[in-house]
Amino acid sequence: MTRTILTVVGARPQFIKAAAVSRVIADRPNLNELIVHTGQHYDPGMSDVFFDELGIPVPARRYEFGGGTHGAMTGKMLAAIEDALVEDKPDAVLVYGDTNSTLAGALAAAKLHIPVIHIEAGLRSFNRRMPEEINRVMADHLSALLLCPTQTGVDNLKAEGIIKGVHAVGDVMHDATLYAIEQSKAKSDVIDKLDLKGRDYEVCTLHRAENTDDVERFALIIAFLEKQAEERLVVFPVHPRTRKVMAERGITPKGVMQVDPMGYFDLHRLLAGSSLVLTDSGGLQKEAYFHRKPAITMRDETEWVETVEAGWNRLWTQDDWISPRHEIPDYGQGDAADRSVDAIETFLAGVN
Ligand code: UD1
Repeated sequence: MTRTILTVVGARPQFIKAAAVSRVIADRPNLNELIVHTGQHYDPGMSDVFFDELGIPVPARRYEFGGGTHGAMTGKMLAAIEDALVEDKPDAVLVYGDTNSTLAGALAAAKLHIPVIHIEAGLRSFNRRMPEEINRVMADHLSALLLCPTQTGVDNLKAEGIIKGVHAVGDVMHDATLYAIEQSKAKSDVIDKLDLKGRDYEVCTLHRAENTDDVERFALIIAFLEKQAEERLVVFPVHPRTRKVMAERGITPKGVMQVDPMGYFDLHRLLAGSSLVLTDSGGLQKEAYFHRKPAITMRDETEWVETVEAGWNRLWTQDDWISPRHEIPDYGQGDAADRSVDAIETFLAGVN
């Protein structure tokens, strides 16, 4: 019997994760996938480029719910996804990560008694001031199948009393990165375009609300970037939120090369040639490790504790990386998407 999964995506990291998993779903004869794009990220450089490059199936539904307050954005998504679910009657709803799109998808489905599958389940920063933390806690408590990238994720869920339907399957971002590393060799000209050949540089990304929205904290981060830039050029693909904030406050960090957000292959080509990664993104902390580049995370805590324990990542409040560095087996061998879809098929076989 063919089963239909309705996948909700909306923000950049979800397109990347969905690409890895959708490729596997497409190969399974008994699974059918409908993609719903909430429009949370709507700039072509934040959205379309990923669908084009990564060959993600064209969304069955595409909304325009980017911008606005969290409540308004999530509320509009919730109402629209509910309509879509009533009409399309999927056997399950698949959500990724921790964005407002994740929360809306999970909540709409759970209220209609449609099982929720959460990929990247169990992550915690234990900082409820982050909207992402609220989204991921809610999504996990609404989910029937919880696919964790790490054993830490499994342990975090257990501590909250969630044991049923929990599996450690590895990190689908690892699969996505391996694909991008291969593809970007031929498909990216970013090093030439930015005139970086033979140059020593660091890569920076910055977009978290808790960093950008706090004026003092943001100023400290910019000072930190400028200090880094005294040693080496810092290449900074600027997220739209951050661009807006810098324009409003008249900030132009010295020694920092600001560029537009990049496609996935360009970003990975850039990472491959870098010496160090500075970021407040969840994804980049691990992508740095997948390239075996050290990272400094500009936050006071991280969900990806393994990267810190293994000496590849450190918080900017930490003096040095833990040594000696070691490998991190949790993330899998590039087989996390396969393992996720195996778990989904087994789960759906048991759903009436
Ligand atoms: C969101 C997610 C975060 C994820 C990140 C990846 C939430 C709460 N946060 O944060 O978990 O790591 O995406 O990038 O869901 N904007 C544009 N163009 C775009 C997209 C956004 O101009 O294509 C603007 C929005 O209008 C808004 C700001 O950028 O003013 C922030 O966008 P938003 O979707 O709220 O959150 P992100 O910071 O991108």
